[in-house]
Amino acid sequence: MVKNKKITVVDLFSGCGGLSKGFLDAGYDVILGVDNDAPSLETFKANHGDSKILNADLFDKNAIKEIKKMAGSKVDVLVGGPPCQGFSLTGTRNFNDKRNRLYLSFIEAVEELKPEAFLIENVPGLVRMYDGAVKDEIIRRLSKIGYNVEWKILSAADYGVPQLRTRVVFVGLRKKYGKFVFPKPTNTPENYVTSSDAISDLPALENDLGEEKSEYKKTALTDYQKKMRKSAKHLYNHVSTKHTDMVKSVISLVPEGGNHKDLPPGVGTSRNFNEAWTRYHSKKPSKTIDTGHRNHFHYKYNRIPTVRENARLQSFPDDFIFMGTRTQQNRQVGNAVPPILGYHIGRQLMSFLNKKNEDKK
Ligand SMILES: C[S@@+](CC[C@H](N)C(=O)[O-])C[C@H]1O[C@@H](n2cnc3c(N)ncnc32)[C@H](O)[C@@H]1O
Repeated sequence: MVKNKKITVVDLFSGCGGLSKGFLDAGYDVILGVDNDAPSLETFKANHGDSKILNADLFDKNAIKEIKKMAGSKVDVLVGGPPCQGFSLTGTRNFNDKRNRLYLSFIEAVEELKPEAFLIENVPGLVRMYDGAVKDEIIRRLSKIGYNVEWKILSAADYGVPQLRTRVVFVGLRKKYGKFVFPKPTNTPENYVTSSDAISDLPALENDLGEEKSEYKKTALTDYQKKMRKSAKHLYNHVSTKHTDMVKSVISLVPEGGNHKDLPPGVGTSRNFNEAWTRYHSKKPSKTIDTGHRNHFHYKYNRIPTVRENARLQSFPDDFIFMGTRTQQNRQVGNAVPPILGYHIGRQLMSFLNKKNEDKK
């Protein structure tokens, strides 16, 4: 690792950059975000200081050459969340699916860029796929090219994120750094940050839909809310959705923490799958934030959460502003690694990379 210089990070499949926002906050120099979704990159650019962006299809082998050119001399850490739909338990689970093959392009990028460390994030179902064959193949290929690879399923709530979101994380370190040890949880179920801890200070938007840029009406009520606001002067992306009276009346019948199973017979039957008509519980972390399927509702108000509410539940600070249409913003928020989770992993990784430096002094 180079002394007296920040550790550089390139984020592949960066989306809006939730993961690399966590790394930025942990003190890394995020130099490049690569994705093929223009609105996500617009958000990335607006929230990652001087970091560059590259709109590229990572299926294309030439993209790696372009990444090398843009990143300059040395990429210290390569991070990435290749699309997970193909691997998801709710997806096709087809190994030859084009989306699964994108995963291999991340491995090829590691081979080409030779970073000191890498991090891959995905849905936990990946670990069980084909009786673990996908996970084993990732570890085998990356170990073969000189990395100690460790993996763990992490729960965001254990690290102070107000959300029950689990993800598998692989961290590879060049052998000279030893084996990575995942950071210890900061929270337990007894002191999880709850949905109301996270969003109770935000305007109700019961009588008006709000605007992309608006004002806080209340002061921050909890430590988490204070942390999210930091020095933010205005409130962005807090815009409600117009529901029909019928939808509102169905939501009003769902108790906190309930779902379609709590509805009277014959009500809300148009949606009866697992997550349908789910209302968050104010005293618990939220369910996994999705990409805007409109199945989750505010714990108190009879509407879906706003982009800002979901961003708070994903631990994006209020000065992280989402670009694009509301649909695009929801996708960016739901796809992201919670920045606070990224921060804890990033900080731990830094201690491994720096320790080697200390040893050399
Ligand atoms: C799970 S999201 C990554 C989220 C990101 N790690 C974060 O924390 O915000 C996966 C990303 O892969 C991008 N993607 C999908 N196919 C791609 C391709 N062929 N080339 C480049 N990016 C692609 C999507 O646009 C999406 O932003």
